[in-house]
Amino acid sequence: GDVAVLVPAAGAGVRLGPGAPKALRPLAGEPLLVHAVRRIAAAPSVHTIVVAAPAADVGSVRRMLAPVAPVTVVPGGAERQASVAAALAAVPAGPEIVLVHDAARALTPPELVESVAAAVRGGHDGVIPVLPVVDTVKEVDAGERVLGTVDRAALRAVQTPQGFRRSVLTAAHEAAGDPLTDDAGLVEKMGVPVVCVPGSDLALKITRPFDLALAEHLLSTGA
Ligand code: C5P
Repeated sequence: GDVAVLVPAAGAGVRLGPGAPKALRPLAGEPLLVHAVRRIAAAPSVHTIVVAAPAADVGSVRRMLAPVAPVTVVPGGAERQASVAAALAAVPAGPEIVLVHDAARALTPPELVESVAAAVRGGHDGVIPVLPVVDTVKEVDAGERVLGTVDRAALRAVQTPQGFRRSVLTAAHEAAGDPLTDDAGLVEKMGVPVVCVPGSDLALKITRPFDLALAEHLLSTGA
């Protein structure tokens, strides 16, 4: 394998309601992070996995993942971007392709990991999996008054894993300013082209209680 996968898993999961940090919440009896790491490790290109865990849970996450796959676990930061930077700093020499994958996208198929990695290997410095936007999207002001309708045909909903040539992601994080919600955003800011590949419905981000219920159902039907 020539791919390192960074897994930011240090978020609190406030939108999921009260409870453990999101990546450690159970889904069909196992933590979200276990589901996510098992699927990443099943992708043949993956050489290294680095997880950024909540600082208080680094030891327990190491023990939890030891039977699942060989992983390095580091303490995450206050923002997702800081968690990714911490994980990136722990990647050993070797892998020249780095993927960043949210633990919250616990049901992401190994095939999506492979297709993103293959696009980077094929010469693209930045690759993101996307889906079309199905809803009509409006821009609103602070008072929820509609300012206008955005052309849906030109929009994409962005998933992870996002893939990068290692040197590009490292430079993007070194140059990073205010925290962004994804890594491709940092790469775009440097003027590096980012290309889209087809995403997967199974790569949904488990954010709200509805998503957890949907994920339970998908697992029960064989996902
Ligand atoms: O907050 P959001 O749901 O967008 O988080 C996306 C991913 O980033 C989750 O897997 C979460 O655990 C991770 N994260 C992190 N460190 C933070 C905040 C979020 O690793 N400080």
